[in-house]
Amino acid sequence: MTCSILVGGAWGDEGKGKCITYLCDNDKPNIIARAGVGPNAGHSVEFNGEKYGLRLTPSGFVHTGAKLMIGAGVLVNPDVLFNEFENLKKYNIKERMCVDPRCAIIKEDHMNRDKASEHLAKKIGSTGSGCGPANSDRVLRTIGLAKDVPELEEYLTDVSLEVNEAIDNGEEVFIEGSQGFALSLYYGSYPYVTSKDTTASTFAADVGVGPTKIDEVINVFKAYISRVGEGPFPTEMTQEEAESKGLEEYGVVTGRRRRIGYFDMELAKESCRINGATQIALTCVDRLFDCARVQDYSELSAETKAFIEDIQTETGVPVTIISTGPDLKDTIDLRKELL
Ligand code: GTP
Ligand code: IMP
Ligand code: MG
Repeated sequence: MTCSILVGGAWGDEGKGKCITYLCDNDKPNIIARAGVGPNAGHSVEFNGEKYGLRLTPSGFVHTGAKLMIGAGVLVNPDVLFNEFENLKKYNIKERMCVDPRCAIIKEDHMNRDKASEHLAKKIGSTGSGCGPANSDRVLRTIGLAKDVPELEEYLTDVSLEVNEAIDNGEEVFIEGSQGFALSLYYGSYPYVTSKDTTASTFAADVGVGPTKIDEVINVFKAYISRVGEGPFPTEMTQEEAESKGLEEYGVVTGRRRRIGYFDMELAKESCRINGATQIALTCVDRLFDCARVQDYSELSAETKAFIEDIQTETGVPVTIISTGPDLKDTIDLRKELL
């Protein structure tokens, strides 16, 4: 059995939500653990005709046989989490959720500081979710932890222990990263980045798993690129160009219009290298090429195949998952052929 980490390859919003949902519905992991920064993330999941926007709950929730976990490195806003319990009631999220007692807690004050800060809100274009100030307080060692929040008591679990025991027992473990490589505090376009590293090694540490235990790192890219917030974007196109190609997008958390650009091969190569990617998932291929809902590689046009094969050749990483629409069925899964 396998321990996999899924990561975003660019500036977030690569369609991780769809990929995670597909992979968890298909592979049925025993544990799905959320890594990453915190509720600054927004993942979109479409399942059985319904659309969900998630900020803390693992996107693999649709696989109801899995335990859902939030690792110690992830910032938790209890209000956001409880709200998702309510919105996802029919999936028994509350009953399956485990929160590590070492998670740091976002309070009103962190959100106020995020929104009131000229530097964070204006210059960086933060999400206003309080993550930057909370991680700053964590570094200063002044922030409160989940173990001291009575409302979270029933969910507290040593996530690291559970995940490692599952791996040792040969169970399937899926670790969900959030944000994306180019938003990494270390490797992204500093200072226009988020408040933590966002590469696979940090995601493993977020849930308390050592690097020797990871089998697969799945790096997700969109067939084009989007970025919300400020900062450099070498392959950015004009808004008019994006509109003419039908590539307008708006953020899940903030509703802000996303900046759109062409696929960036140099970024893809660096992102695969630093993440140690073993597979690439490519989403929204249907929005760039005419292949909506295609489920068979042989049905893709020569131009589409050339685009995909070029990414594979340049990065040296197999493109195993190709997403051709929002529904789980709109997926070409080449893992059996390529791995
Ligand atoms: P992550 O933050 O990486 O999880 O991405 P996201 O979920 O934030 O992406 P976004 O909010 O932009 O959602 C993408 C939208 O496109 C959602 O409605 C998805 O269901 C949908 N989507 C995902 N993959 C595809 C795809 O391959 N083709 C199309 N046409 N839509 C997709
Ligand atoms: P913060 O993480 O809220 O401090 O925001 C810092 C930068 O990261 C801003 O440019 C945000 O737009 C961006 N960001 C943070 N989380 C996400 C995400 O999940 N998707 C896309 N951009 C994000
Ligand atoms: Mg998103």
